[in-house]
Amino acid sequence: MAIIRNDTDKTFTLTTKGTMYQLKIDDFGQLINTYYGEKMDYMDMNYATEADWGTSFSPNPFEKDDTGYSYNNIHQEIALSGMGDFRLTTMGVRNADGSYGAEPTFVSAKIEKGKYSIKGLPAFYGDNAETLVVTLKDKVHDIYFHMYYGVFEEYDLITRSVVVENKTNESIHLEKALSMALNLPCGSYDMLYFHGRHTRERILERTRINHAKVCVESVRGASSHMHNPFVIVCDKDAGESNGRAWGIALVYSGNFEISAMKNLQEKTRVVAGINPENFNFEVGAGETFETPEVALVFSKNGFADMTNNFHSAIRNNLCRGKFKNARRPILINNWEGTYFDFNADKLVSMAKDASELGVELFVMDDGWFGKRDNDRSGLGDWTPNEKKLQGTLANLANRINDLGMKFGIWFEPECVSPDSDLYRAHPEYALAMPGRKPQLSRHQYVLDMTRADVRDNLFNQIATVLRSANISYVKWDFNRHLTDVYSANLPAEKQGEVYHRYMLGTYELLERVTQSFPDILFESCSGGGGRFDCGMLYYMPQVWTSDNADAIDRLKIQYGTSFVYPVSTMGAHVSVCPNHSNARVTPLRTRGNVAYFGTYGLELDINKMSSEEKQEIKRQIVEFKELYELIQRGDYYRLISPYGTEDSLFCAWETVKRDGSEALVCTVRYESDAATAPEFVKVKGLVPSKWYKINGSEQKYLGSALMNIGIKIDFDFFTYPSRLYHITEA
Ligand code: DGJ
Repeated sequence: MAIIRNDTDKTFTLTTKGTMYQLKIDDFGQLINTYYGEKMDYMDMNYATEADWGTSFSPNPFEKDDTGYSYNNIHQEIALSGMGDFRLTTMGVRNADGSYGAEPTFVSAKIEKGKYSIKGLPAFYGDNAETLVVTLKDKVHDIYFHMYYGVFEEYDLITRSVVVENKTNESIHLEKALSMALNLPCGSYDMLYFHGRHTRERILERTRINHAKVCVESVRGASSHMHNPFVIVCDKDAGESNGRAWGIALVYSGNFEISAMKNLQEKTRVVAGINPENFNFEVGAGETFETPEVALVFSKNGFADMTNNFHSAIRNNLCRGKFKNARRPILINNWEGTYFDFNADKLVSMAKDASELGVELFVMDDGWFGKRDNDRSGLGDWTPNEKKLQGTLANLANRINDLGMKFGIWFEPECVSPDSDLYRAHPEYALAMPGRKPQLSRHQYVLDMTRADVRDNLFNQIATVLRSANISYVKWDFNRHLTDVYSANLPAEKQGEVYHRYMLGTYELLERVTQSFPDILFESCSGGGGRFDCGMLYYMPQVWTSDNADAIDRLKIQYGTSFVYPVSTMGAHVSVCPNHSNARVTPLRTRGNVAYFGTYGLELDINKMSSEEKQEIKRQIVEFKELYELIQRGDYYRLISPYGTEDSLFCAWETVKRDGSEALVCTVRYESDAATAPEFVKVKGLVPSKWYKINGSEQKYLGSALMNIGIKIDFDFFTYPSRLYHITEA
């Protein structure tokens, strides 16, 4: 039983293998959080929430005048704006009479087997979970707030979402609808977050949570490169294997906010959900509004345990379809090899060389359709360019298949070029504000995904292509952010719904396409990793991590990504040197080793490789396939950070089988250093009393030695060397 209801104390205690999350209905019917942290024996933890002194100008509801009981002090699970909670709030309700506020008060609760789902939105799923639904109702109006909690015991994972149900006879407006308020125990906390830009995604930063709001967010219409919708709130001295850490991931790909701040009682509250900027959603009489899901994993032992729980949960209970746990085909993508400058013969010649080395899938990237010889035209016209393809798409797919390879293709469904037949026929399909010319970005506009006719048009075009040839893979790209956020299809008073409806529409199309073509592997992309989030992973089990495939820059990018997203979801390719993003030259082996800790593929003109280089690729493919299970499903440990430490100019990470029988450690030197002293990497997850060998060595090592002293490492004498250490039982 993961959820324990105690009617005497009026508590609901959500328990997982190592954590505990307690809710309580307080004396005034408020749903509060009394505790979230390490698992303990049951008690009513309410004492931890009580305010110690007066409320410093914070009014008191329920005739509790001049006491510590205030909406500004209690640990509400849903924090209403406009009601005297002056902290970070989650829900803003504009009633039909114009008043702003609500007082959600306990009505009922039920516990169900299995995990709830959310209408129209991605969410974790599975029978290996339990659901708690606590229903609250405004004290005045028939507005209900259904608070959903999903509990996955084995992953220490708790999910949350709110459904607002308007049972009044008139419309109400949500001017803010975040998914979660989380009130942490007293203490001082840091926030780790992952920021970036195109070709530099998920760069780790750490900051103290004090009395000013710390906020990661997007107002770009996509989760974006700038901030990832995932943060870790932790003890100020927490590290990889020490300290308390709360991982908070939003299962959403649009505008979001995750913020934290200490209040005047020195307590930290974290809120997460849809960004309130330009958000105003009408909920008509009898209608509901669903907030996106937030996924929480607590660890008492620092970041690594949190990471591994997220990895397992995302792999098994968020990703879907036949590829979620299958070995993905090793692919070659032609983008960096040719950009727009290709024809069928060129692609087939690349595929031929690749097939001889063991590559299994050829992906034709941008430029195969409409009038698309550069990025200035063609988006929206998803008709194969038979001149460039020197025949039909089916014919090209057959030529690739004849080489023993699968064939894949690129789409960017959500965008349109002004210079396209689709835009000329339907300018109203693009987001645009009345009287203003929409802004261009990469010479393209964004389609109005709120419209059913746009989605139908796209589905029909995409389905026609996918049915016309033997296609096994689709890369779904998105290369600009939203401006001119106005839908010609919606009345003036509903324009505040467009950002969220855009995501709902995109998710609906993704659901339709991916469910109609279950045998196709889908990879999500947005100028590299600009939409790498749990929302997209529900539809597509891998994401192109970054347009920057330089092995050294990738150390930080993949390091940051690894905090929450599993290796199996990270698109990682070997590309050419000098690198196209930063001109760096790195050894091919280092490029391969780094790409192993992702999906491993190639993105270069293989025809231009020397026979020596081709042999190295052939070797890598064999090695990667042998190590695949270990890499993709092992527990993941960040051993030495790529941000540098006092005594190392190299970084290291590891994947290890949970039973400790086998591990793989990768080291990469990112800066040269003369006359280095002996260097060691301490390994994790082995069995202390077991004997191991490294890369088949004669010498045997005790597990405890490898974990306490470490592997003695060495590097070849050239720039950016890298080594793999395969640890097996002796
Ligand atoms: C951006 C992607 O990240 C690239 O990999 C490539 O697909 C281009 N778009 C194509 O336009």
